[in-house]
Amino acid sequence: MQGKALPGFRDFYPEELALRNHIFATWRAVATRYGFEEYDGPPLEALDLYTRKSGDEIVQQLYAFRDKGDREVALRPEMTPTLARMVAARAQALKKPIRWFSIPQLFRYERQQRGRLREHFQLNMDIIGEASALADAELIAAAIDILRAFDLGPQDVRARVSDRRVLRALLMGAEIAEGQLPAALAVIDRSERVPKNVLEEMLKESGYGKRETAAVFAVAELRGIGDVSAALGNVRGGEEAGEPLRQAIAALEAMGLAEFVTVDLTIVRGLAYYTGIVFELFDAAKELRAICGGGRYDGLLAAFGGTDLPALGFGMGDVVLGELLKERGAAPKASTELGAFLIAVSGGEDLTTVLRLAHALRDRGVPVEYGLRHSGVRKQLELASARGAARAVIVGPEERAAGVAVVRDLKAGTEAKVPLEHLLNGFFD
Ligand code: HAM
Repeated sequence: MQGKALPGFRDFYPEELALRNHIFATWRAVATRYGFEEYDGPPLEALDLYTRKSGDEIVQQLYAFRDKGDREVALRPEMTPTLARMVAARAQALKKPIRWFSIPQLFRYERQQRGRLREHFQLNMDIIGEASALADAELIAAAIDILRAFDLGPQDVRARVSDRRVLRALLMGAEIAEGQLPAALAVIDRSERVPKNVLEEMLKESGYGKRETAAVFAVAELRGIGDVSAALGNVRGGEEAGEPLRQAIAALEAMGLAEFVTVDLTIVRGLAYYTGIVFELFDAAKELRAICGGGRYDGLLAAFGGTDLPALGFGMGDVVLGELLKERGAAPKASTELGAFLIAVSGGEDLTTVLRLAHALRDRGVPVEYGLRHSGVRKQLELASARGAARAVIVGPEERAAGVAVVRDLKAGTEAKVPLEHLLNGFFD
């Protein structure tokens, strides 16, 4: 028998599940605060849902197989195609703009490394049916507010925002041909991680000359809306291409979130379907992989045979976020927070009273536990402490006769006799 889960898959012991639940609860709270409704889809989908539009990288990582009905299927590696499929099927009936969120578990056969596993949970927040750049700002704000809800500030996390339309305008303005854009985008995407000479080689192989190569690096180095706007001012169609990004950045400033936001054209995003503003959130020290990534994907619904609706969204994983929270000591402890551990001094009548009391208290919503096998009071007190119970409630023959129990505060070490009637009514309120 194998003692471990498969590589890249996690066992959630109570402490790890406490962190996951804390992350989910915060995701749900902020998404709801933004007026998003929760949905879900199936974890297994037809393979071609992903081969059609997600792009090569994700397709190579699919957990795909042929099912017993001879269908080509895949475990979902991302939520966006499922969302597009679901919305496309009911596009007429749904009130636009649609604001939906989901917390699916996703599966990708990745090379395992820090922050990347073969399964993860991912909050998805998407808006469908809205072309305005205010929708882009709304989603970037939601992603930032989630991190603020975990007590992370601009010294901890940053949103890096770019726009594929801006990249296109600047590159085509430098007379790079449409057919050569993918190579430029791939180089810009890697410009922080891969040495410059390797990138130069990549461009050379794609037929780039010295001048075009320099233009690609100049675009990758642009930072801040001021510099980007100035560069756009020098190219045909630049003014128009930069307008949504300018609007989104101005909206984020008006919300008071400017400190979190950097315009950074090296954000391209790997998935093939993005068409406009794209963004990623990172830890400020940039030691970890992206916490979150998303953008506008206006053509995807039409590609699924649906109505041609503009769409945008992001995915935020639980893995990098969990690491960040653990690093900051902000992860919660696993604990059932027992109100009391009940102790019967002897079996028989003491135990009957403990069982009656435990059941009545649980009915009133007080979390309580008692020893499932009889043992001495000292042993039971040890177990009560190990359980992290706030107090022990001890019932012996004398106490029973007097209609009371001894309540020991396990933190302070103090003791008091409390009437059983009071324990049932009012003591735990
Ligand atoms: P993505 O960039 O592939 O986008 O993933 C979004 C986030 O999910 C990443 O930033 C990361 O936190 C987390 N993530 C992705 N892969 C893994 C992995 N193997 N292990 C741990 N965490 C991971 C998408 O999936 C898009 N569908 C997001 C989206 C929604 N775009 C529009 N709407």
